[in-house]
Amino acid sequence: MKKIVEVLPDKEALIKRSLELVLSKLNAAIGSNGRATIALAGGGTPKPLYEALATQNLPWDKIHVFWGDERYVPADHPDSNQGMARSAWLDKIDIPAANIHPMPTTGTSPAADVQKHEAELQDFFGTPTGTFPAFDIILLGIGDDAHTASLFPHTDALQVQDRLVTVGNKDGQPRITFTAPLINQAHCVMFLVAGSSKRPALAQIFAPAADAMIYPSRLIQPQGELWWLLDHSAGQELSNQ
Ligand code: 6PG
Repeated sequence: MKKIVEVLPDKEALIKRSLELVLSKLNAAIGSNGRATIALAGGGTPKPLYEALATQNLPWDKIHVFWGDERYVPADHPDSNQGMARSAWLDKIDIPAANIHPMPTTGTSPAADVQKHEAELQDFFGTPTGTFPAFDIILLGIGDDAHTASLFPHTDALQVQDRLVTVGNKDGQPRITFTAPLINQAHCVMFLVAGSSKRPALAQIFAPAADAMIYPSRLIQPQGELWWLLDHSAGQELSNQ
């Protein structure tokens, strides 16, 4: 793993830097494999990045978009991560519908939708059951409680080692989420973190030792690059790392 921590002066600079990195990683993947795969985060922080991506001239037919987690609501629900990314970005570009791979949320149950999505991922990447595909980029955020994707403190999802996707649990509400082993297979994981409310969580995530069941973002140790892009309010105490 190659870990890079950058503390940017403000949120605008954080978004600008994330755009630059995402563009370069997408182009590099297309250059070497003919296609690029990116998994998106929910939450408010990446929305301006998605809006900026909507203005870029990229070979969209070579880019495949996934989500690292999803709230268990239909795509037109205000809480939908898919809905947010579509309105900020994907509805504004000329990308083939087949290149958008949302997590299903309208099946018979979260567990059934998890199985369906896992089969879709294995099929897309051509990876046999029991092996984990490697995304080119996985975007993540953290919550004030140090969760990432829908890997919440003290939930069963944190223990899952043998699945790509599982059911997350946010205060009793089901979510669908990538598992830590799937995220850790990525070529590049990029956390975008802004605001002073994230400081206590970051201190525990960056501490030499702390319990990953309490601070789930500690589970993220990808085989490729791990980027932490922080604005000054979030990262001022970490600028020396
Ligand atoms: C979600 C997310 C989640 C998010 C963090 C940060 O669907 O809720 O994927 O993990 O990234 O909660 O959210 P903010 O960017 O709004 O702080």
